[in-house]
Amino acid sequence: MGRYEQVHAALTNWQAFESGAGVGLSNWRTEKPWRPPSVVAEADPPHHDSTRDAIMKILAPRALGKLAKDWVADADELVEDLLGRTTDFDLMKDLARVFPLRIFPDAIGLPQEGRENLLPYSEHAFNSFGPPNDLVTQAAPRMPEIAAWVAAQCRREVLTEDGFGAQLYAAADRGDITQDHAPLLIRSLITAGVDTTVIGLGALLTLFAQNPEQWAHMRQDPALMRTAFDEAVRLDSPVQMIFRTTTQDIEVEGTFIPEGSKVLLVLASANRDPRRWDEPDSFDLKRDPSGHVGFGMGIHQCVGQHIARLEASAVLTALAKRVETIEIAGPVERRLNNTLRGWESVPVRVRLA
Ligand code: HEM
Repeated sequence: MGRYEQVHAALTNWQAFESGAGVGLSNWRTEKPWRPPSVVAEADPPHHDSTRDAIMKILAPRALGKLAKDWVADADELVEDLLGRTTDFDLMKDLARVFPLRIFPDAIGLPQEGRENLLPYSEHAFNSFGPPNDLVTQAAPRMPEIAAWVAAQCRREVLTEDGFGAQLYAAADRGDITQDHAPLLIRSLITAGVDTTVIGLGALLTLFAQNPEQWAHMRQDPALMRTAFDEAVRLDSPVQMIFRTTTQDIEVEGTFIPEGSKVLLVLASANRDPRRWDEPDSFDLKRDPSGHVGFGMGIHQCVGQHIARLEASAVLTALAKRVETIEIAGPVERRLNNTLRGWESVPVRVRLA
């Protein structure tokens, strides 16, 4: 499904479109998952209820106040240091890939060692939602080792005492979730919270480089930062698509879909459906992008969206203070993934304010 109305309807009808048979192409009613399934993204009610509640409490806007302040200071330091060295740099390699990895693993409470495994792991998880093509098979031999590293980082004894990880174990101690769920929810944060934000931040900054009038507009009115990030997630849709499996025979717009079918929901297409959006292909801070499905919709809607917004606004605040214009300064390069759409490299030149 590619139209907004149908994609939205399927996302909000978990009874007919389940996640428990996997949210990728492969059907776990008949195929073996490459790792134990997620207890939140790949679970349906009632199993989904307690894990979702536990993670929501920890990642709710109210719970993130102190982190938000630290992240603004961190972004300021990163941008100050970068612009002190050069005004020619790569938006991906020097900013979008650096900032989330600088702050998010600390927020979970992960050990320092081995963090270079985080992006390859997350990248593989998103590749594995698609067909078993070269992107999947080439990374597969390294995955048992990387997955074992990830599992080891989700143990209570290696985590710091105050991060999201420790808070999930505290939720297990209170009986809100089971002891087995805590490490798997930490794994969910690692899987879903790293590459997505790298790509989302990269999309946002690149769209500003491609639309200088929108950058000027946002600098005049910083309240537009939040709109800007959601507009970037709508337009570039870092998570391009997600699957569901039908739990019953169902008819959609005159097409019969039998029970047990995999259905591909193309979030990216729904987010540019001209039936829903005026001028869908333009990056426009005057539009209201709310209602986009870039973070999903319904009971599985992204629990990390506040984190992603805070990261983006920290970086934008730091840049907007110092940078008058951003322009693309060389050939851009895409990074291919079966689910995610992002940039590998975006060379830019900035003029300081
Ligand atoms: C769910 C996108 C950042 C954790 C989702 C879904 C989408 C999405 C489309 C819905 C999947 C579905 O319906 O099956 C994004 C994008 C991000 C982002 C575009 C950044 C720009 C994050 C971050 C975290 C995170 C930073 C962790 C802190 C999760 C989790 C779920 C989820 C755990 C599953 C929720 C559930 O099934 O109830 N995300 N995400 N995401 N996201 Fe995000």
